[in-house]
Order: sequence, then structure tokens, then C-alpha cells
Amino acid sequence: MSGPLILGIETSCDETGVAVLEGLEVRSSVLASQVEEHARFGGVVPEVAARAHVEAIRPLAHQALTRAGVHPDQLDAVAVTRGPGLSGALSVGYAYAKSFAYSLGKPLYGIDHMEGHLFAPRLSFPGYEPPAVVLLASGGHSQIVHVKAWGAYEILGGTIDDAAGEAFDKLARFMGLGFPGGPAIDADSVGGDPDAVKFPRAVRDRPFDFSFSGLKTSVITYLEKARENDSLPPRSDISASIQEAIVDVLIEKTFNAVEATGVEIVGAGGGVLANRRLREKLIERAESKGVGLFIPEPSLCLDNGAMIAGVAIEKLNQGAAPDALTLDVDPGMTLA
Ligand code: KG4
Ligand code: ZN
Repeated sequence: MSGPLILGIETSCDETGVAVLEGLEVRSSVLASQVEEHARFGGVVPEVAARAHVEAIRPLAHQALTRAGVHPDQLDAVAVTRGPGLSGALSVGYAYAKSFAYSLGKPLYGIDHMEGHLFAPRLSFPGYEPPAVVLLASGGHSQIVHVKAWGAYEILGGTIDDAAGEAFDKLARFMGLGFPGGPAIDADSVGGDPDAVKFPRAVRDRPFDFSFSGLKTSVITYLEKARENDSLPPRSDISASIQEAIVDVLIEKTFNAVEATGVEIVGAGGGVLANRRLREKLIERAESKGVGLFIPEPSLCLDNGAMIAGVAIEKLNQGAAPDALTLDVDPGMTLA
């Protein structure tokens, strides 16, 4: 056996994720996506999310254990997302994990969802080690973190308004591209000209922070004018230009942090890191700067149970105490 066996449970937003890890090896990882249930509302509805987690969690946990060929008695610990996220959604996973851990007499580790994203590259690349600068970009949060050691984080900057994924989602909705917006804009941008429209990027005097409200206003004004004048370019050009603006900002700020800290490793995680253009441009920039880049495969960038179990492995290695079963979720949890 190559390490402890951990069950990881993730229910912070609109994906129920359960995985079994043996050390850093993913023995199984299964997901129940709620995308279709939320799509008709154009965004995640918290009550719908909580209810869908209730329906999915038991069969999914069973499936994850069966696929891994692991009996619950063999587990060394149960890991579950404690925050940040939607309170009702988090509570479903946390209550399930608590009762699972209690009934089996296993330790329970409540994990920060963003620490999961931050740790995810290690599941693809065991050599990914701090010190590193990590770009975290998801639907709810976007941050640039200086990881000094596992568990020792300094948040250097982040969004002043919308998270990067939220910006994708809102702009896609405005363009009528549906939900979730990130993958829709990513797909729509294929063949489009990223330089067709030069949307704004700058947040002055704040090297590690970004804002997407200027971009949103600018896209909306541009589209309204172009529609009035009947001068709309192909939609793929607009999608590619929006995507380019978001991607450029994220990369610029990440590499400002690389320069300021002098680290030689860049990690990245969160749903937005599934974006093809972002991955491509991060690779180019890292190569030109001579720094190591660790972006996990897209399925590990999106919400999943494996990244949550991964953080618990590190906690076990460090001898961290498990959570008391009297604890509850922490929807506003922060990394530092
Ligand atoms: O990390 P995640 O799965 O859930 C949260 O913790 O929020 O991130 C979801 C976000 C959504 O806003 C979605 O639009 C965005 O990630 N996303 C993408 C892509 N795939 C998902 N954004 C840009 N391009 C993509 N291919
Ligand atoms: Zn996430």
C-alpha cells in the first residue's frame, strides 16, 4: 500500500464529487453534475443544489468505494469540504461525512475548497512542491496565492469584484450562450479572432488584483452599440476577445506575483483552468520565463472529491488533528 486510504467528499456548489485516494493515487473519482438542473434558471439555485446533493451523495459514495474496491472499514479517514461555498450545499456533504465517520469510528477532516484546488496539481504531478505562486480561478473565487509550504498561504491578491468564472458566466448569459458560461465561451471562441475587439484589462497600481466590472460594462456597451448600428462581428470574434481579456489579466497578475516573490514554480487550479486558451497562454508564458508550470488535467481543475481527499493526505502527513464532530460548515472559510 502506498499511503493512507481517504474518502473525499465535495458538495460546495453544483457538483457532487466523491473520490477514494490511496496516498496521492486516485483509486476512483465520481461526479454527479447538476448543470442541467440549473441551466434552465441561468445560474446555480442554492435550494436546487442542496436537494440534488441529498439525492446524489449516498449512491455516489457507494459507487466511489465500489470502483476503488475499498470497503469502508479499510478507510483511514474521511475528508469533506467545509467551506467556502453555498451553506445548504456544504451542509449536505458535511452531515453525510460526519455520520459516515462517526458510524465507522474514522477521523473526519474538514477541508477548505480552495485549498483543494490549490493542491489538485499534486495529484497529476507528485513533484509539485512549494514554494509556488498559485492561480486559483473558479466560479466563486479568484485569487493569487503564495504557497510557502503546504498549509502556509499568503493571499497576494485577487478579484475586486466578480470571480473569473462568474465573469465568464455573466457575459455568456448576456450573449445568450447559456450556462455555465465558461465552457460555452471557450467552445464559441474556436476560430474567432481574439484581437477583434480590444476590451479593457487594467487595474492600475494593484499588481496582484484584478476586476471584471470594467470588462462587463465595456462588452455590454459594445454589443448594444454594434446591434444598433447593425455592425456586429461574428459571435466567435466576440467570444474570443472576451476570453482573451480575462485570460490576459489572470496571466499578467500571476506573473507579477512570480516576479515579486522570486518563486520558480507556478500552480493553477479551479474550474476556469479548464479553459483551453488560458492553459495554452500559461504554458507559453511559463516557458518564456523559465518557470515550472503545474496545471492539472481539466477534470481535476473542476470541482471534484479527489482534491479534497488530497489535502487530507497532506494533513495526515503533518499530524494534524481531525475535526471535532461538533463542528459545522463554514461557508465563508478563507485560506489565510
Ligand atoms: O471550480 P469550479 O468547478 O466551481 C467553483 O468552485 O466555483 O468552477 C466553475 C467555474 C464556472 O464559473 C465555469 O463557467 C468556469 O468555472 N469554467 C470555465 C471553463 N470550464 C468551467 N471557464 C472558462 N473556460 C472553461 N472551459
Ligand atoms: Zn471549485
